[in-house]
Amino acid sequence: MDAVVKFTNQSQGKDRLFRATQYACALSIYLLRKNTERKDLVAKLKSLENNMSTGRKLLRLGNTANSIEAAKRTMQLSDRVLCLCLTAANINRALYFICDNVLWAKSIGLIGNIDKERWSLNSSRWYLYSLVMNLTRDVYEVVRLMVQKGRDECFKEKMDQNLGQSPEVAEVVIPQLDAFVFLLLETLKSHPAVALDTVKNICDLFIPLDKLGIYKSNAGVVGFCGLISSLIGIITLAQPTLKIKP
Ligand SMILES: *[C@@H]1O[C@H](CO)[C@@H](O)[C@H](O)[C@H]1NC(C)=O
Repeated sequence: MDAVVKFTNQSQGKDRLFRATQYACALSIYLLRKNTERKDLVAKLKSLENNMSTGRKLLRLGNTANSIEAAKRTMQLSDRVLCLCLTAANINRALYFICDNVLWAKSIGLIGNIDKERWSLNSSRWYLYSLVMNLTRDVYEVVRLMVQKGRDECFKEKMDQNLGQSPEVAEVVIPQLDAFVFLLLETLKSHPAVALDTVKNICDLFIPLDKLGIYKSNAGVVGFCGLISSLIGIITLAQPTLKIKP
């Protein structure tokens, strides 16, 4: 078990690189779709995208164990909200990887008669639940930090100075909204790890929403969001201080 978890952690970098490539291909294919002269290139990109997707499935075989281990850890958190959100996110993530592994086994012919479409939809559904729990945690974190910052005396002065310069705006347009946006932006600026995690989770959200037909975007949006979230994933792996904790 430990060896599986360790290996999966080591292959995370490769998975993220593959994922970025996969979505970069998807985005390029979308952008080149009307270009009849580039048919060859599009065919090559499609094959690369498929290879990346299949390759990643192999790298992810150990991720179920990895997610269960993570769930065990987050269950110990003393903050009730964090404990609930992260444990639920990790359990849903484990269920997602089980579906993913079954689909992989089917794709190499290891198992025969399963309803591929249904397993694929279920996998997207667990992924979506995991993302929603992660986003709930992000919102909780942002609100907590905003309250903290709002109470800070130095920050209050800075806010008065900034917003006080335009009294007509402050008086006419709902001043609370102004203050709220200012506080939100300042909070995100001083906690880049939280900001990056939020952007990443929002970007990721478009992928299962599109697959499940809850919110249909187009292949370009999905490719773009997938690419941005993969790049954030690479940044946080390369620069652990930018990764949200716990
Ligand atoms: C949710 O957050 C955890 C901890 O940051 C992360 O390991 C996991 O990959 C996230 N889940 C999804 C579906 O992105």
